Amino acid sequence: MDQETLKRNVMSALAGVVHPHTGEDIVSAGHVHNLEVDAEGNIRFAVLLRPEDPGALVREARSAAEAVEGVSGVKVNVQLPQAGKAGPSEVSPSGRGPAAGSGGGGLRPGSVPAPTPAPGLLSEVDHVVAVSSGKGGVGKSMVATNLATALAREGLRVGLLDADIYGPNIPRMFGETRRPQVTGEKGKEMIEPLEAHGVRLMSLGFLLEDEQPAIMRGPLIAGILKQFLEQVNWGPLDVLVVDMPPGTGDAQLSLVQTIDVHGAVMVSTSQAVSTGDVRRGVKMFERVNTPVLGVVENMAGEIFGEGGAETMAREMGLPFLGRIPLDVAVRRAGDAGTPTVLSQPDSPAGLALAQVAARVFEGLRRESVTGPASGTGSPA
Ligand SMILES: Nc1ncnc2c1ncn2[C@@H]1O[C@H](COP(=O)(O)OP(=O)(O)OP(=O)(O)O)[C@@H](O)[C@H]1O
Ligand SMILES: [Mg+2]
Repeated sequence: MDQETLKRNVMSALAGVVHPHTGEDIVSAGHVHNLEVDAEGNIRFAVLLRPEDPGALVREARSAAEAVEGVSGVKVNVQLPQAGKAGPSEVSPSGRGPAAGSGGGGLRPGSVPAPTPAPGLLSEVDHVVAVSSGKGGVGKSMVATNLATALAREGLRVGLLDADIYGPNIPRMFGETRRPQVTGEKGKEMIEPLEAHGVRLMSLGFLLEDEQPAIMRGPLIAGILKQFLEQVNWGPLDVLVVDMPPGTGDAQLSLVQTIDVHGAVMVSTSQAVSTGDVRRGVKMFERVNTPVLGVVENMAGEIFGEGGAETMAREMGLPFLGRIPLDVAVRRAGDAGTPTVLSQPDSPAGLALAQVAARVFEGLRRESVTGPASGTGSPA
């Protein structure tokens, strides 16, 4: 079947998806944009999702497209309406935008606009997984470090991007003090990731001369992230793990708007403040159609309690990925630059972290077969 025919068939399949609130089909209602079809039958399109639209719209659009004969793969990019002070208008050809200043137009008023992830960006990377939380200091970087290392130990090609530009701690956790090389001709320079414990690494911590005031970095978040995705020579990877900064703000949004994130891993302690923040984080990822692969409970034990994050995961219908005990050896491993899954693979924490890695990879594989089905996953 030629590409034009396939494209037409996909369009008419999408026109069969009806918006549950308005009864209008999503094509006529202007939700579908930028449909592209390649020679292999891979299709890609954007779905405009306003705050009042159900996230299920995206899932239904994806299923409709997947069901078309001749389609071999489907990528859906979620577009959020532009916030009031949007940049270049690349969001929606129909020019739909929220009422400026209404405060209700975007996910977060004033957040970055929502471009469609560039086709081809990270095209050699099979899976991108973001490690996130609501609260700071709960062990995201520790989990990201061990997740990446454990997957690399299994023979996968793994990268780890430190997206925490305020407090990059990936260099310390990997014991890396080298500086990355810049290669390529002038104007097309690429930064080479550093490789440690079998993982390809990039962090602002490798590039900063000395501690630059955090306030200067704030407005640069989206730009730096984008550069780390576009100008770092990641090469072919099975998994790129992204260690997110705390919170559910601009960094999370700019990431999901720059590349297709295949899943988020949420880290929480057992405490209510932490699980509450994770709930908000989960909603944010679901809102932008990023599947949440599950919840890791960290620092379990007498001090922070135990079981709170697992209960929350169950209540939200999310897979529970494992419980990591609070163990001083974990902190020491972090400080010494050798991840626990390598330095103490048979310790309770080492075993739990390896299990988390296995379940995450299983979840990624399932997502790539079935497409996003957030909130309905079953524990591995
Ligand atoms: N299970 C654990 N047992 C003991 N120490 C831990 C455990 N998990 C994390 N830590 C330690 O707690 C500190 C915070 O962990 P980490 O830096 O991974 O948190 P984070 O969520 O990335 O923090 P931030 O929000 O600042 O980025 C680190 O010193 C780490 O080594
Ligand atoms: Mg961190």
